[in-house]
Amino acid sequence: MTKILTGRCGSLRAFLRLNFPLEGHAERLQGGIRRRLVQVAALPAAFPALLLTNAFAAETKVDFPSEYAQGKHYASIVRGDTREELYTTIAAASRGEPLPEGTVITMEDYRNNQLYRYVVMEKRKGWGQAHPAELRTGDWEFKWFNPDRSVRPGENLDRCRACHTSQAGNDYVFSYDRMKEAD
Ligand code: HEC
Repeated sequence: MTKILTGRCGSLRAFLRLNFPLEGHAERLQGGIRRRLVQVAALPAAFPALLLTNAFAAETKVDFPSEYAQGKHYASIVRGDTREELYTTIAAASRGEPLPEGTVITMEDYRNNQLYRYVVMEKRKGWGQAHPAELRTGDWEFKWFNPDRSVRPGENLDRCRACHTSQAGNDYVFSYDRMKEAD
């Protein structure tokens, strides 16, 4: 009895699958299966990416520095419609040495006097190891936050690193001299 029921149930399901769904649904179903096949096929290709999870782990490390404004406001940079206000938690540039571990530099970026974004650099021991030598900015990590302080998703942080590597002589900080003067 159970067997018959199962059988009927099974065939009923097959019947429904074949005849009941509208075209769109059927397509979506097929699409789903195709997608799944593609995912399976892509698995071996994903292995190198899995090995790089360290890099992603480091990139998630910079949290929004909610206390940044209590740090030192060391520079204002105005260029056309853009105004940038720079803050650092630990001011130690005056010695002309690399900034200490734990330093967080926050830049408020305004366009036409409206807050457009925050960009943040944070330095923690060992963080640089997650990146290949040509993209390593010491132990600094970078992050772009929206005005509501949420992380801007999908931002390519390698671009931050690539540009800031030019400042290797200033511990990767463009405004190092400004910080030094203010310290
Ligand atoms: C094309 C080059 C370039 C890129 C890309 C770039 N920056 Fe910068 N960044 C600068 C310059 C130049 C300054 C100095 C301020 C100025 O002159 O506007 C700066 C300043 C900063 C500062 C203040 C400390 C300092 O170095 O003076 C922070 C923090 C910062 N950038 C974070 C970021 C983050 C996060 C990203 C990526 C989302 C990023 N930057 C991408 C060029 C760049």
